[in-house]
Amino acid sequence: MSERFPVPPRIQERALINRWEEYSRLYRESLENRDDFWATQARLFLTWDRDFSQTSSCDYRTGTIEWFSDGQLNVSKNCIDRHLVSRGEKPAILWEGNELGERKTITYRELHSEVCRFANMLTNLGVSKGDRVIIYLPMIPELAYSMLACARIGAVHSVVFAGFSAESLGNRIEDCQAKVVITANEGLRGPKTIPLKSICDEAVLDAQSVKAVVVVRRTSNRTEMKSGRDFWSEELLATASPECAPVVLDAEDPLFILYTSGSTGKPKGLVHTQAGYLLYTAFTHKFVFDYHEDDIYCCVADCGWITGHSYIVYGPLANGATTVMFESTPTYPDPGRYWEMIDRLGVTSFYTAPTAIRALEKEGEIWPEKYSLESLRILGSVGEPINEDAWLWYYNHVGHRRCTIVDTWWQTETGGILISPLPGVTETKPGSATFPLFGIDPVLIDDNGKEVSTTPGKGRLCIRDSWPGQSRTVFGDHDRFFDTYFREIPGMYLTGDAAERDSDGYFWIRGRVDDVLNVSGHRLGTAEIESAIDHCELVVEAAVVGIPHEVKGTGIYAFCIASREIRSVEEAEFEVKNTVRKVIGPFAAPDHVQFVTGLPKTRSGKIMRRILRKIASGDLESLGDISTLADSAVVEEIVSGRKR
Ligand code: PRX
Repeated sequence: MSERFPVPPRIQERALINRWEEYSRLYRESLENRDDFWATQARLFLTWDRDFSQTSSCDYRTGTIEWFSDGQLNVSKNCIDRHLVSRGEKPAILWEGNELGERKTITYRELHSEVCRFANMLTNLGVSKGDRVIIYLPMIPELAYSMLACARIGAVHSVVFAGFSAESLGNRIEDCQAKVVITANEGLRGPKTIPLKSICDEAVLDAQSVKAVVVVRRTSNRTEMKSGRDFWSEELLATASPECAPVVLDAEDPLFILYTSGSTGKPKGLVHTQAGYLLYTAFTHKFVFDYHEDDIYCCVADCGWITGHSYIVYGPLANGATTVMFESTPTYPDPGRYWEMIDRLGVTSFYTAPTAIRALEKEGEIWPEKYSLESLRILGSVGEPINEDAWLWYYNHVGHRRCTIVDTWWQTETGGILISPLPGVTETKPGSATFPLFGIDPVLIDDNGKEVSTTPGKGRLCIRDSWPGQSRTVFGDHDRFFDTYFREIPGMYLTGDAAERDSDGYFWIRGRVDDVLNVSGHRLGTAEIESAIDHCELVVEAAVVGIPHEVKGTGIYAFCIASREIRSVEEAEFEVKNTVRKVIGPFAAPDHVQFVTGLPKTRSGKIMRRILRKIASGDLESLGDISTLADSAVVEEIVSGRKR
């Protein structure tokens, strides 16, 4: 059993919850009287235009989930307006631009005018309640303004990570039938410039639904603009009023759609709604990061993913926090970038992904050693299991053994964190997400679909009963929502992860049980990468598996059958990687491509991924039974050509 790390006394002293008994009691109560618990929190955390009479109405037999459904409120009012009296001059957003020294402070009052102007701009373009707006922006303040402006007028935003290709962006625009796309002329990430507007031009080429493309000027380079369709935001905003009354919305009106990969088919547009989502993100932000009024809270995720939605924008702003928005990369201009920023801003909570920690660990301790890192109290991790080595490095060299590490487990579907230490009470174990938060009842299910009641025990991780932050549906396809998450294990939400509960009751997340990969914390489906490879005319069939990767956590290994004779293997491999870059985006490009003459298949034609996974990761001793293969000779050939 691994070592336990006690709660550092200075963290415990100021913590909102600082006794284990208090956590246990509240936890028990939250499960026993779930609706009462959340009704109380909803009235504490949110400002309602109309109070609700029914707390929840959820039925996992149909995948119907509703919270506070007759209540009414506005999310942007909760994130901005209600803070103006007491926090008008408080920084809401501290923006750190790509270049060192490029920065901006946006107070709550300034945030209010900017968001109102963005909201009026959208209204002037014909956007109204329920319309979808795609946001394809780098991590600049305009990204937060756009999200909150949509929330203000009841439009539904869908942020697309600015590393996605034209095809991926186009698919999302098409799927949600977006009326407006907001982009920038270019994006800057470290030394790279990304031609966002021209990617967007390609994506909207056939998009009938798009009436306007709004372009934020991020660089001074020349930009092609199509007259009648493309507009510079600065020109539209010049005439937009800085006052805009928030639209009163029903608790269950959609707030945003966020596309995420699954094991099959195209990425799903998961829908989150207003009140439950905002409550859950605000609540978890407060307790997991032990948030206090004067904290400087910094999550270095991208708003293109759920972490940025919940823990850069909505959760922190609902709590009236100062939240940092970081545009650059961890190693630009040097690997001290985060640590310099933490000292300069006095960051108290810092939230990142294991992949970034591993990348920085490789650069050596000399980088964090240059800085005091004294202001830090809470260090967060999210997106993939954190290995013990990276955990200890984070704990010792960033946290100087005086911070609590919160290894937070959650998903796009869950809206917010479900399993995590609480800084003032939980003794941590490196690599364990520890215990469920209030209102969350995790269950392990064995291979026969039965609940594992033993401790220790392991199985597929499910959650019994609903919580307010849960996703409500897949946009335009409720059957898919039900089939993916609720059909197999009646009465449970199926997470797709495997987990173990150790003899002390700690949860250890062991990774996905389906064909979903967490590559550098980015979620990708193997089927999605395979269908991208299908676009390469050199390939007739491909099978993709995940392999352990030192920095990325999981790397991508593609086995491809060529459509014709290949003259240069290197060129062909490059071609495959490049196709994936173009179809999905650079972050999805395979690490290894191996051309093979056949794939291991069962007699019924099913690819045996188990075998491919073992070969790709070099686990050749235990290939297991290959006698059921249609052609077992292919295995030998694949093994001999393995890439490393
Ligand atoms: O496999 C789990 C992993 O990330 C998946 C969810 O990915 P996504 O929807 O992109 O959301 C990522 C940010 C919340 C999960 O199914 N995951 C997330 N956090 C952890 C994790 N695996 C282990 N430990 C974590 N702390």
